Amino acid sequence: MPKLIGIKKYNIAVFISGNGSNLRNLINHSLKKRSKFRVSLIISNKAKAKGLEHAKRFKIKKKIINYLNIKNSERKILNELINNKIDLVCLAGFMRILSREFIKKFKGKIINIHPSLLPKYKGLQTHRKAINNSEKFSGCTVHYVSSKLDSGKIIMQKKVRVYKNDNINKLAKRILKQEHLLYPKALKKVIINL
Ligand code: GRF
Repeated sequence: MPKLIGIKKYNIAVFISGNGSNLRNLINHSLKKRSKFRVSLIISNKAKAKGLEHAKRFKIKKKIINYLNIKNSERKILNELINNKIDLVCLAGFMRILSREFIKKFKGKIINIHPSLLPKYKGLQTHRKAINNSEKFSGCTVHYVSSKLDSGKIIMQKKVRVYKNDNINKLAKRILKQEHLLYPKALKKVIINL
């Protein structure tokens, strides 16, 4: 058996607001023998986010940030990132926009997954927009977070076919499946360059 001693594991924090299927998927990948990262912290702006159940199940530290005041909230988040020696932040369905100041402090170390082929369809309702515009393809994108919404440098993308009889749910499901393949791959690529 090759020794694994000496392989550095990067500490990642995953930010969520809802279901947390991408979070769960990243946790699964982190538990693989040769994984280069561990999920050390989960941040949620919603106390009732379903994804928080993974924190309990996998005994991962979680922090709920109420976002009543952006500055205070971001200060708390930043402290958590520093205290937990976080190397990289992965946004996964986090429904808050991070301030320019916050992004600067963690420059080049925040990535996000978005359910469209950016630069097309930034923001919300991406599947609805793709269907309404009769797109043949939609997909998902992992990108660096910059101060402009869904506009940072693209790391990886995956195309997904949009069918004539698609509805939002069907398309969302098909794309989410691909998100689960894409995010760990993109994360690997980012970690190599950290
Ligand atoms: C995903 O579609 C992701 O691309 C978007 O929000 C959704 C989060 O899903 N940013 P989940 O909470 O990871 O299941």
